[in-house]
Amino acid sequence: MKNILVTGGAGFIGSNYVNHILKERDDYFIVNLDKLTYAGNLANLSDLKNDTKHIFVKGDIGNRQLVTYLFEKYNIEYVINFAAESHVDRSILGSYEFYQTNVIGTNILLETARRFSVKKFLQISTDEVYGSLGSSGLFTESTPISPNSPYSSSKAGSDMMVQAFYHTYNMPVVITRCSNNYGPYQFPEKLIPLMIINALNNKQLPVYGDGMNVRDWIYVIDHNKAINLVFENGRAGEVYNIGASNEMPNIEIIKLILKKLDKPESLIKYVTDRLGHDRRYAIDSSKIQNELGWKPEFHFEEAINKTIDWYLANKDWWEKIISGEYQTYYDIQYGKAKVH
Ligand code: NAD
Ligand code: DAU
Repeated sequence: MKNILVTGGAGFIGSNYVNHILKERDDYFIVNLDKLTYAGNLANLSDLKNDTKHIFVKGDIGNRQLVTYLFEKYNIEYVINFAAESHVDRSILGSYEFYQTNVIGTNILLETARRFSVKKFLQISTDEVYGSLGSSGLFTESTPISPNSPYSSSKAGSDMMVQAFYHTYNMPVVITRCSNNYGPYQFPEKLIPLMIINALNNKQLPVYGDGMNVRDWIYVIDHNKAINLVFENGRAGEVYNIGASNEMPNIEIIKLILKKLDKPESLIKYVTDRLGHDRRYAIDSSKIQNELGWKPEFHFEEAINKTIDWYLANKDWWEKIISGEYQTYYDIQYGKAKVH
């Protein structure tokens, strides 16, 4: 058995990972530590209720006593750190929690993992640490780190700390940097679920700036398969970029969602741009492809249909979310643009 501490496993990517990998691997025992912030949701893990290879613990990665207790109790040998404050717009509204969790929380995990001599520490990072691209070029693993938002600067800080633990202590760490994910269980503050849900509710779709910012989209299952290859075979001290070579301007995605839902483009509303909005992200994933044999399996057309179908079939899941604290956030974020 591999005893693995997975953090943030009740969020979007982490819950998809845990749900997926427990079906694929008989020898994984997962302790899932999640603070259940607004973004964490036990409903994402409902299929695992009777799975004896999964234990959920509600708690903070920044709680040193709790983290130490879990390492001792479950003889933790591996860590996969998904836990983070993950939304750029929220980091612009207030950044404290971002540095607290993404930097200090990661530090506590790393220090504890070092004391217990873990066999691998996998840090789930983001392409946003590289900053913004012009109209050409791709992020490679040697692109200089140049984050622009409070969120991405907190992720860059944790990446550099993780690398410092490799250089200083020879700790077996590895980092993945992925592009924009989409799929089931994504919290509806992010572009794709927000637009699907607003369109279903005949609400306006708020497009920042001119709608021509470009993101490089990957289906969450492809990301998670790449994560597991890196977890099992990635070399210590290395960074692996993950992306599906699927660049699209935001407005194109939004129009495609409207078309699939048979909703009018008059729902689109151009609003004030995000502060410091990165123009373009695009990933060169040749390292993970050549070294570990990964390649994306899902085409955008197929996976966006699956995603839309999931939101159509799981209204209960998102209706609970948007009727709670989400409404307050929505009013603060979009109220000034009068998007209702
Ligand atoms: P998410 O916001 O959906 O989930 C984050 C999870 O972490 C939540 O369940 C939350 O409760 C938990 N969490 C937050 N603070 C915590 C703390 N202090 N202690 C324990 N748990 C805590 O985020 P996501 O989109 O699933 O992203 C997961 C990871 O992947 C993040 O590290 C993010 O930076 C990275 N990432 C995300 C994307 C993307 O497109 N969503 C792309 C690349 C990388
Ligand atoms: O690139 C990886 C990153 O992708 C992850 O590290 C982050 O955790 C994740 O949130 C995501 O960041 P983005 O800022 O790119 O994602 P978001 O879904 O917030 O926005 C995608 C694009 O859509 C971006 O150009 C801003 C735009 N947008 C977003 C929202 C929420 C809008 O035009 N309107 C909106 O209401």
